[in-house]
This record gives sequence, structure tokens and C-alpha cells, in this order.
Amino acid sequence: MSELTPDDAFLTLYSDLAREGPGAPADLGWALSVAATPAKARICDAGCGSGADTVTLAKERPEAQIEAVDKIAHFVAAARQRTAHFGDRVQVRQGDMADLSGPYDLIWCAGAIYFLGVTEALTRWRSALAPGGAVAFSEPCLLPRPSEAARAFWAEYPQITDISGIRARAAAAGYRVLGEQMQIGAAWEAYYRPIERRIEKLRPSATGALAGALDQAEQEIARWKAAPSEIAYALLVVKPE
Ligand SMILES: C[S@@+](CC[C@H](N)C(=O)[O-])C[C@H]1O[C@@H](n2cnc3c(N)ncnc32)[C@H](O)[C@@H]1O
Repeated sequence: MSELTPDDAFLTLYSDLAREGPGAPADLGWALSVAATPAKARICDAGCGSGADTVTLAKERPEAQIEAVDKIAHFVAAARQRTAHFGDRVQVRQGDMADLSGPYDLIWCAGAIYFLGVTEALTRWRSALAPGGAVAFSEPCLLPRPSEAARAFWAEYPQITDISGIRARAAAAGYRVLGEQMQIGAAWEAYYRPIERRIEKLRPSATGALAGALDQAEQEIARWKAAPSEIAYALLVVKPE
């Protein structure tokens, strides 16, 4: 295989996966119900990746208008392809989720709000919410009494906090929590298992940047496997006060 740039190596490893972060379809049903998102809602999938959750949102709310936004062209193209059969009611665009205009009844943001910061994102999104609208987001969360292995997993995310810290970040933006649940185990397997299969396939011919990307992904998965019952995203549904 010819040498790849680090960006190409990243895409070779992470393109065409079922999803780009931990999560499960059932989480969306839960969030839509907690947020009381109406049938004809306007919904944004912020940081949609290749559109796994965009598809589920479109299925869960067949009369809704859905806008999915991601900054990476490759993911936008993949999400467009995946959602084309829904027609015009699902639009996917390349853009910055920091600049949403709305109005939306629900902003769904899985595994991406940490790019902006919880307080910063919620503050920015307030004006993009329709009256009564809500935001559902997942965010890395430290469980009580974390082991060394759990701390090691999150070493590259020093901003990590526990559930009360996440609630406090939402409150600092003037939001109240309507519901919360933890994503542990299955949601992470849904993300890591396909990557493991991809690594296995690519490994025999991988050199240079690609070999480095595979090593990094393998190390991340090994750190998760060292403490799978302790590695969590908190999924919160919040609403402006
Ligand atoms: C970990 S992935 C999660 C993707 C998807 N939500 C999922 O759960 O499969 C994070 C995504 O956020 C996108 N992203 C990060 N910062 C962004 C920004 N400022 N605007 C739009 N998308 C962004 C990345 O390109 C990436 O696709």
C-alpha cells in the first residue's frame, strides 16, 4: 500500500463505519420521549458524522424535518448517501455546529459537544431553539471512585468531570436537566467492534501513517477493555430555564 498522509490514514480507518462514536438507537427513542419532541419537529443532528443517528431520528419521527451538520466533507457525503431515501425532509450540510440558526425543537449531539464545551455549546444553541425546544447530548463522564484504568482511558480529555460537573456546566448556560442516563458497555461495543474488524483487515499491508493510526486505535480499545464497566458517556436532555 502506498504511504498515506495522516488525514488519509484517519479516513481509511474511520470511514464507512456504522458510527463514529459510542451510542445505540434506543438512546434516541429515550431522548425524543424525555424531550417530548413533537411528530412534526424540526431536529438538528449536530456533529452527525456519517449519519447513524440521523437515520434513527428520521425513522423515529417520520414527519419531522431533520438537518444534519458536520464539518468533515467525507462524513457529510456518507451521511447524505445514507439518508437519501428519506427525500427532502432530511438535509445534510457541511458546516460548523457552533453556528446553528434553527429554529429546532430538538438539537441532538452525540459524542461531539466536547469539541465546543458543554456550557459554550448550550449557550450558543439557545437562540437556535424553538420555544419549548430541548438539547440532548452525550458527554464523557467519570463514574464515582474511578480506577486508575478509567482515569488512564480519559487521560487525553483533562476536562472530564462527573455527572454533577456536567449538570453544573448545563446550569451555567441556564439549562435545566429533564433526564439523564449512562451509556456504558453496549454503546461502546457498537463503536469499537467494527473498528477492531477494520484494524484486522488493514493491518497486514499497513505501513507509515496508517500503521500509526492502527496502533493508536488499538491502544485506545485496549484502554477501554481494561475498564469497560467504568467508561461512560452521560446522555442528558436539557432545556433552557
Ligand atoms: C465522535 S464523532 C460522532 C459522530 C456521530 N454523532 C456519531 O455518534 O456517530 C464527532 C463528530 O463531530 C464532528 N465535529 C466536530 N466539531 C465540529 C464542529 N465544530 N462542527 C460540526 N461538526 C463537528 C466531527 O467531524 C465528527 O464527525
